[in-house]
Amino acid sequence: MAKVTVVGAGAVGTTCADALARKGFLKEVVLLDIKEGLAEGKAMDIMQTSALYGFNTIVTGSTSDYSKTAGSDVVVITSGLPRKPGMTREELISVNAGIVKTVTENILMHSPKAFIVMISNPLDTMTYLAYTHFKLPRNRIIGMGGLLDSSRFKYNLSQTLGCSPNDLHANVIGGHGDTTMIPLPRFSTLNGIPVTRFISEDKMKEIVSATMVGGATLTKLLGTSAWYAPGAAAATVVEAIVLDQKKTFPCCVALKGEYGMNDICIGVPVTLGKKGVEKIVTLRLSNDEKEALQKSADAVRNMNDVLKTMV
Ligand code: LAC
Repeated sequence: MAKVTVVGAGAVGTTCADALARKGFLKEVVLLDIKEGLAEGKAMDIMQTSALYGFNTIVTGSTSDYSKTAGSDVVVITSGLPRKPGMTREELISVNAGIVKTVTENILMHSPKAFIVMISNPLDTMTYLAYTHFKLPRNRIIGMGGLLDSSRFKYNLSQTLGCSPNDLHANVIGGHGDTTMIPLPRFSTLNGIPVTRFISEDKMKEIVSATMVGGATLTKLLGTSAWYAPGAAAATVVEAIVLDQKKTFPCCVALKGEYGMNDICIGVPVTLGKKGVEKIVTLRLSNDEKEALQKSADAVRNMNDVLKTMV
């Protein structure tokens, strides 16, 4: 059975550790934070639910002691500041780039073969940072943005369709930003039936816009960024890898020629299994969709250029 580390015992990290524990397929989850006692406390609180939920995963906490994370199969990185209302994810780059670099360095020192699941924002640039700075093979570094955004898209579609979100397949590709993500109505179905058959073009535009600002809407309501869906999305990525599920959904990965792009990490559909990113699925995009992806990639590249001036 596998060992997973979650770095950052804030709301997202703790939700992810909790989701992983409840799923019950792991031997051990280590929660690590720099704030004295926080990870230990959160881990103990989660462990005190084990007799209630009936899981056997051992969750432990550590204050900055990376030796406790040694031998992790997968590491989820949530470290860094969340956004405040009115902020974009991109504005977090100056603080979060340094944090993510240090965390990744420490993680790889103790778990040199671990798969890394990135949550920290700006997501595409933080994924690119870990990929390029540490020269990781691209199958081992995965940003969870596309899965989160696709789940939000499904929720929004289900509200209009009056159906279960579980009966929907939906794809959001591109960057994980308010203006860079691309919900794809043409690649979204209700039990195999294109959702475009049931929803007018105008209504679909509303759903697409609501999906794109899904994170910002929550940040406004909560005063900080969301945690349940981001934590669950990362746990779902971990599960697909550890259990070799061969599940296909959008994630942020490094492209090498796919979609005509190189030297960028951005959201596209991928198949995840025990080798991490096992396949990159190339969708047959329309001209408009291709143009949107190109624009999204340009914005992600601009952020990556800012990164290059910093680290
Ligand atoms: C969100 C943050 C985690 O979309 O990026 O909620």
